[in-house]
Amino acid sequence: MSEAPLLIAIDGPAASGKGTLARRLAEHLGLRHLDTGLTYRAVAAAWKDGGGDGDLKDMAAELARNIDLEHLDAAALSHHSLAEPASQIAAIPEVRRALVEKQREFAAHPPGAVLDGRDIGTVVLPDAPVKLFVTASPETRARRRTLEMRERGGDISEETVLADLKRRDARDTERADSPLRPAEDAYLLDTSDKDIEAAFRAAVDYVSRAIASR
Ligand code: DC
Repeated sequence: MSEAPLLIAIDGPAASGKGTLARRLAEHLGLRHLDTGLTYRAVAAAWKDGGGDGDLKDMAAELARNIDLEHLDAAALSHHSLAEPASQIAAIPEVRRALVEKQREFAAHPPGAVLDGRDIGTVVLPDAPVKLFVTASPETRARRRTLEMRERGGDISEETVLADLKRRDARDTERADSPLRPAEDAYLLDTSDKDIEAAFRAAVDYVSRAIASR
């Protein structure tokens, strides 16, 4: 075993299950966990708190440089209202540069970390020895996300959630800077027909094999 921090990269579209898998893998392996989507959401929240005025591109980059990754309020930042502005902010190259640098610093601390997002295996941690790309059909993802939102008291139709997911998928996969795509050496895990336990077992299987062959 090497002394270097163990890095695990998990990517995939919204509501694919990657966040839950990342959190559980980190617990299982005793690693730190960072949901990098929260870093883009934190910039969107800071932007809104500031009144949302001024040049978005310049201000968002400045706000990104001031985000503290160790103290992200996951519950507040997960709010649906931040999804759309975060997706727009994530297309700004200056914002990505600032956040990617902070994400790499977070991952470099021993004993290592599980990072989940859209560009972890391709851009943030291209040398990570363990990479997973988690997918599920848009319909499955919309169903999961709608249930989640209803459990939290939200009242939204599955059609609206599906349309929303497809619009964000398109923006995430078509943007010029760091589009969502699997790294060449990523293990593809389709969770459409798997509940979280089955998906977790499949992920642990793969991760154990990948670590053993390090
Ligand atoms: O996964 P999420 O909904 O919390 O992500 C919020 C937005 O940030 C989403 O539009 C995708 C984007 N994002 C990104 O571009 N790169 C990442 N590594 C993580 C999220």
